[in-house]
Amino acid sequence: MAYSEEILEQVRSSNDIVDVVSTYVQLKRRGANYVGLCPFHNEKTGSFSVNANMQIFKCFGCGVGGNVFTFIEKIENLSFYESVEFLADRANITLPKQDFDKKYDGRRSLKETIAKINKDAAIYYYQMLRRPEGKRAYEYLRNRGLSDETINNFGLGFSGVYSDGLYKYLKKKGYSDEDLRVSGLFNFSEKGVHDKFWDRVIFPIMDYRSRVVAFGGRIMGKAENTAKYLNSPETELFIKSEHIYGIQLAKKTKEKFFLLCEGYMDVIALHQAGFNNAVASLGTSLTERQARKIKGYTENVVITYDNDGAGKKAALRAIPILKNAGLTVKILNMQPYKDPDEFMLNLGAVEYRKRIEQAQNGFDFEAGILEESHNLKDPDSKTQFDHRIAEAIAKIDDPFARHNHIRAAAEKYDIEENELKRQVNEIGLAIKIREENEAEKEQQKKTRERRPEAAKAVAEYTLINTIVQDKEAFLAVKEIVKPSDFKDDMERRLYEYIIQDYEKTGSAVGARIVEKFDDAEERKRVADILMTSGDFEDTSEDERRKAFADFVMDLKKDALEREIEDAMAQKDGERLKTLLEEENGLEKLRGKLNGIRLSRQC
Ligand code: UTP
Ligand code: MN
Repeated sequence: MAYSEEILEQVRSSNDIVDVVSTYVQLKRRGANYVGLCPFHNEKTGSFSVNANMQIFKCFGCGVGGNVFTFIEKIENLSFYESVEFLADRANITLPKQDFDKKYDGRRSLKETIAKINKDAAIYYYQMLRRPEGKRAYEYLRNRGLSDETINNFGLGFSGVYSDGLYKYLKKKGYSDEDLRVSGLFNFSEKGVHDKFWDRVIFPIMDYRSRVVAFGGRIMGKAENTAKYLNSPETELFIKSEHIYGIQLAKKTKEKFFLLCEGYMDVIALHQAGFNNAVASLGTSLTERQARKIKGYTENVVITYDNDGAGKKAALRAIPILKNAGLTVKILNMQPYKDPDEFMLNLGAVEYRKRIEQAQNGFDFEAGILEESHNLKDPDSKTQFDHRIAEAIAKIDDPFARHNHIRAAAEKYDIEENELKRQVNEIGLAIKIREENEAEKEQQKKTRERRPEAAKAVAEYTLINTIVQDKEAFLAVKEIVKPSDFKDDMERRLYEYIIQDYEKTGSAVGARIVEKFDDAEERKRVADILMTSGDFEDTSEDERRKAFADFVMDLKKDALEREIEDAMAQKDGERLKTLLEEENGLEKLRGKLNGIRLSRQC
């Protein structure tokens, strides 16, 4: 392990898992756990649980689980070390410089290689822009109104006019073809290797800590037979649906909101105009992952998508996604200009700031679009319009806001108020019923899937849970259960780690124990076992006590049988005799087991 256990412990304990998860997921307290909608799979019922005592999380829907490092690894798509760095940064802890043990974290090395290639490529593109052959590209950028400072801040470059300029440059630096292949920056074919970007202005795409993860390349001029922008393919380092362009700068903003736009040039133009809170989802429509990432940095988003049909449609789609991530959303109107870039060139920052202040809420925005697309003088079109307005109002969460919008819309659009109210309520009810139905189906599916294993799981949970949370119970169980009683290797190690944790520190911490398991699958299972599960709320105290005693008895019986078999194979009569005596006395254990107080939380 490259960072010492003390460091890991310090970083972990400085990042309360409930705090960290809360920036991405809305959590509600339920018993000993906090529960919310899982950020790693789609669901309507909260299967995602966080346990504050043990400092671990677990999704009972899709199975993911672990400690705060695991959570950050998954949600930010980082390697283990990167998650440590991320959380150290969050808690203002300075990490000692480290050499990385590649074996321990395989993902790191491939990602690191790509990052290194990208960095060198970015330098190449940057230099090309400043050379005579890059003059055309440089002038293109300047003509679009970008200052030298902006060009530098965003690391813009030029890909050159040779079909293999970058390839040669990187080969000279010693990269192997295999490494260059995975970087996604080249086309390999029988005819040879060619740079993917050729004669294009280059926009490096960076992650939150300014590491170049990919590139976008724009042709200079109008796109006719070819795509205007070409982007790096997805790699280990670059997952399109997760990435947010401009995050490395926007994360430092003092503004209370992010400006969300569509493209590279919009983000750049906004930053140049002093709006250092601009980001973009780059051509792809906004995903839930991106929305949750944004929620990691701010509470509010102002959408400033293109002022055309596609942009409005994209905004309508983005609004519920952002809201579901727990963000407040407003939509900015750039009339008569198409996008922030054009707006800045024509009206400038002061005017744009006013537009931010006038930004509309989701309902007003939708109502405006409906108005444009309906002829309110035609009775049929107006009727359809009224229905759509009712649907839009039904989507407003706050009941007071709903009421106010019913009243305002009734007056503004001449809709019968009571009828509008009735419609809104009806639609609202239908939505609620549909959601409840889906939630119920999901719940049934979950129960069905877990049922066969439930009894054993309850017992195993109960045993491990109890001893992790209750020292007295631990000491009692330790008298009865030996690590070697566990046949399953992972279970045995789990039990050993708990014992070690108690011996070393006098207590057992779930998150610390999870940490001992490198394998993602194992970590999932450990979190599963450690975590108190809402699914078993329906089992009674008596049922659990019985399952617990049965579990330990079975464990002991199985272990004894294995030993007896072994003694027989070895023809070890003496040992066999003791073991058989032990087996006869096994039933006495039940009394002891019944005396152990079980954890109330599972
Ligand atoms: P736009 O066409 O609105 O881009 O596409 P833009 O930023 O205004 O571009 P300029 O001003 O003409 O330079 C929005 C975003 O969609 C992606 C890019 O990320 C772009 O910034 N896109 C667009 C592509 O990936 N490929 C394309 O061919 C076009
Ligand atoms: Mn544009």
